[in-house]
Formats: sequence, C-alpha cells, structure tokens
Amino acid sequence: MSDSMVRVGVVTTVLPRGGGPSGARPVAYFRRMAVRAAELGAELLVFSPEDVDWPARRVHAWVPADLDRPEGPWRRVWRPLPQALYENVFVHLAVRGYTRGLRAQARRNGIPVFNPVLPNKWQMFRWLRRTDLARYLPETHWLTAPAQAISYIRAWRTAFVKPVGGYGGTGVTRIEASRDGRFRVCADRLREGGAMRRRMTERVLAAWLARRARTPHLVQRGLALITLAGRKVDFRVVVCRGLGGKWRIVGVIPKRAPRDGVVTNLVAGGERLDLARGRALAAREGKVIPVADLEECALAIAKLISARRPSAGLLGFDLGVDDAGRVWFIEMNPKPSRLLLDSEMKRMAARLNAEFLVHLARTGRV
Ligand SMILES: Nc1ncnc2c1ncn2[C@@H]1O[C@H](COP(=O)(O)OP(=O)(O)OP(=O)(O)O)[C@@H](O)[C@H]1O
Ligand SMILES: [Mg+2]
Repeated sequence: MSDSMVRVGVVTTVLPRGGGPSGARPVAYFRRMAVRAAELGAELLVFSPEDVDWPARRVHAWVPADLDRPEGPWRRVWRPLPQALYENVFVHLAVRGYTRGLRAQARRNGIPVFNPVLPNKWQMFRWLRRTDLARYLPETHWLTAPAQAISYIRAWRTAFVKPVGGYGGTGVTRIEASRDGRFRVCADRLREGGAMRRRMTERVLAAWLARRARTPHLVQRGLALITLAGRKVDFRVVVCRGLGGKWRIVGVIPKRAPRDGVVTNLVAGGERLDLARGRALAAREGKVIPVADLEECALAIAKLISARRPSAGLLGFDLGVDDAGRVWFIEMNPKPSRLLLDSEMKRMAARLNAEFLVHLARTGRV
C-alpha cells in the first residue's frame, strides 16, 4: 500500500466483533462509510482511542481485507496516522472526557477532527444572540437568583429549567405558574432517576431552584409546541456536510412526547414519527408542519457554526414549532443519535460523513 494514500479514521468503541459467516466486520454504518471512502480513493480505518500509538505515529486499526469489498471481512493492521478523523465515541463517554487525550494529540499532529468541540447550550445562545438568527431563540437566562427566575416564570406562565451540560432530556424540568399562585413542576427523567410531578408553593420552588442553581442551568421561556393527537411534538433536523463542505439536510424527524410529557427524547419515553405520518396526523387536525422553515433554520444555524468551527460536519438540531407555526431553536446536538434516522437517512449520512472526512483530509483544515 503506497504511503501517498488518503487515509481517514473513525474513532469509536463499537469495534468489529466475532466471526460470523462474513468474518469480523464493523457495523453497517461504518461499512457504508468505507464503501464511499473507497469510491473516492481513500482507505477508512476504524479504531478506538487506545489503538493509537502517537509517538510512532501509527494506529492498530480495522480495515476491509479487500479495499474494494468493505462488505466482506475486515482485519486489524498497523497503519500510519489518518489525515482526518471522525470522533464517534458515545456521548456519555465523551462528556466524561474519554476523547480528550485523542483530541489534544490530533491537534498537536495537525489532524482535523470532526466534530470539533462545539458550543454547549448557553454558548450557542451567545453565538446566535447578536445575529439575525436571534429570531429563532426563545428568551433564555442563566439560572442564578431564585427570585429572578420566579419572576420570569410568572411572566411567561410556562418555563423550562435545564442543565447546561445535559443530554437525553435528563434534568429538563417544566414549571407552570397556576392561577392559585402555586407552581406545577414536572420532569420526565431526573438525574437521580425517575420522573417528577409536583405542586410547589413559591417558597418550596425557591428552595428547589436554589439547589438547581448550584450547577450550571438555564431558565427558558416555555414554547407552546404544536400537538399531534394531544401530545407535544418537536423536530430533530439532521444536517451533514459532504465533499464540497456544503451542508445538506439528511432528515426532519418529528418526535412526540408521552401524554403530559415534558420532553420528547426517546430515552425519556418519547416516540419517533415518520415525517409523512406526522404530516398526515397534522393534516387531520388542520395543522401544517412547516418543513421548509425547519430546514431553513437548521441550515442557517449550521452555516454559522461551520464558519466558526470549520471542521464541524454533522449536527442534530432540536427545533420547535409553536401553535402559530413559528419555528424555534431548542438546542443543537453535536453527536446526534442514529436511532432517530430511518435506513435511507442512515445511508445518506454515512456517505456524507465519509465524503466530509475525505474533504477534510484533502483540505487539511484543523
Ligand atoms: N423552552 C422549551 N419549550 C418547550 N419544550 C422544551 C423547551 N426546552 C426543551 N423542551 C423539550 O424538552 C426536550 C429536551 O430539551 P433539550 O433538547 O434542550 O435537552 P437535552 O437533554 O439536551 O436533550 P438532547 O438529548 O437532545 O441533548 C426538547 O426536545 C423539548 O421537547
Ligand atoms: Mg435535545
């Protein structure tokens, strides 16, 4: 194998296992990426952070035994460091710092990693606040003094309190002001486990907010999200960049909360709908899902992100649509779950991810 070959890497803990009739091979998503990479004349390597020997600038990686047949068996070989990396380690490991060393080494060696570390919930708001994309932002504040938060909640009637570093809907809490001066406080998935449905007086709520404020939290105006058959819906919009670095829509996926649910996250009891099914359900109630507006919002924010972080290549937005049909930005996920994608979307995303890796390898952006 000549050393001028373009090599790109997927960093994951989901490595090929077992024999089986086709021999050991990685999951279908990575095999598809390898197919697209091979079409572009590049070799795709699959490995975990521990497989890299940085001082020797080489990696013990899985590669297709036959470069032109990534659907066949794979084998483990030593290869020089790839010229671009896709960091695909599970979000729960990544947030615990499992990929920090890898990222630092990649930086030192001038290897671009997609995605780079992207802004958290609060930083995203700060990035968008002073642009014309601010129109998509629900009013949001850093949670500090409980009295201040309670005055927002009273003014808005419904508010969401959520951890800044959260994922999977954990800790996301809805607070509604009741006419009797008390508050209804609901969460589907508490950090300590289980759900919560409580009524609180102002004094109890203030104490509860003070406890939350010990770690970084936001307090955000509650959106009147559209409902389908009485259940709240929001939208995951997945976008990827391919060869030329242009953002493309991979899919718009409605997510429906459980009845009286706070969040739509699958891990918290939410349900994924096909867009066609969502549109049909909406039509039955005389509602319209503004798909073009959702796509426009996702692409515009994605462009802003990649202008600041040139190696951003895959994003999953959570967007809301309110009763009036207006689109809102809820959050951006730098590691969107593939579970929400249908098989056609997965195929497209895998191809684009491989293309973007080759694009990064060729342009050498860090
Ligand atoms: N301001 C809001 N108004 C209405 N619903 C909201 C609001 N903020 C969050 N939600 C609901 O809660 C869900 C979870 O919120 P968010 O996406 O911000 O949190 P998360 O825990 O980071 O989830 P993820 O796993 O997508 O990162 C949203 O998908 C949405 O259904
Ligand atoms: Mg979310």
